[in-house]
Amino acid sequence: MEYMNSYKIGIIGYGHWGKIITNVLVQSGYNNIVVCDPAIKEIEGFGFPIYDDYKQLINCDKIFICTPATTHYEICKFFLNNHIPIFCEKPLAISQSEVIQLYNLAKINNTVLFVDWTFIYNDLVIKIKDYIYWKYKKPPSLIIMNRLNKGPIRDDVSALYDLSSHDISIITFLLNKTPLNIQHKQYNILGGSQNDTCISTLDYDNTQCIITSSWAANSKIRTCYFNCDDETLMWDDYQKILVMKNDTCYSISSPLANSIKTFLKCNTTPIKNQTITMMTMDILNAY
Ligand SMILES: NC(=O)c1ccc[n+]([C@@H]2O[C@H](COP(=O)([O-])OP(=O)(O)OC[C@H]3O[C@@H](n4cnc5c(N)ncnc54)[C@H](O)[C@@H]3O)[C@@H](O)[C@H]2O)c1
Repeated sequence: MEYMNSYKIGIIGYGHWGKIITNVLVQSGYNNIVVCDPAIKEIEGFGFPIYDDYKQLINCDKIFICTPATTHYEICKFFLNNHIPIFCEKPLAISQSEVIQLYNLAKINNTVLFVDWTFIYNDLVIKIKDYIYWKYKKPPSLIIMNRLNKGPIRDDVSALYDLSSHDISIITFLLNKTPLNIQHKQYNILGGSQNDTCISTLDYDNTQCIITSSWAANSKIRTCYFNCDDETLMWDDYQKILVMKNDTCYSISSPLANSIKTFLKCNTTPIKNQTITMMTMDILNAY
């Protein structure tokens, strides 16, 4: 194992994603794990210690925050103030001012604040970027991203923050610039406490982006298109396939495992992914 599996790792939030993160860590050889989730009484198969209050994880070497988005700010603040490196799930926080405060705290305390924009560690997303800039030397003229699911329905953030944030982080990774114009049109189709569907348009100087996301859809659709001069790349993250004019690629690695590995190796760089987080939050917050 090439990374430090003797770390004591704290998982905060053992719901859908916290379980997946824990499995990736265990498969990578990390077994010194403690969990904090007041809703969990036992962890089947592992028997890791469970705590009710995240402050009890103060003696961990690394912390993974996998709780609902609206809890991230307070939990991050506590661990940054205690100089403990954090891997925080997206979105880092809800407002731009919270995000700025957290990065300032990370800087003051010289502590790693890593946000899990999982898709920028996706091998096909990296391939799309490399291929487009190698072959066309310029960004695509049109990007269409679709992220449609049946649930999970969130009650703390909208589909824009929960789902489209992924696509915005991918576009930010691909284009590395700020849009000239941003529009988010949100809908509440299911009648829940948050808007469950969103269509966003991001206008860049040479690229038009359209993002559709919903947890009110009956099917899981993850098909995205990237129009370049004489071809349209089609990436289907559900099928894990990228179709180009003269080639087809399949995903061969786990983006989450790549993201976790990057965080666990990141001891010397105090702040990772800050630009993508800041640019993504700017776009999410543009109304
Ligand atoms: N990167 C990705 O691809 C990806 C995928 C899914 C979810 N996520 C993110 O992961 C986070 C969690 O999503 P989820 O689907 O697992 O949600 P979930 O509702 O299934 O799980 C959240 C868990 O956090 C626990 N919790 C809530 N407040 C807590 C607190 N103060 N201390 C400890 N535990 C607490 C809840 O009891 C619950 O078990 C969200 O930020 C979501 O956006 C990221």
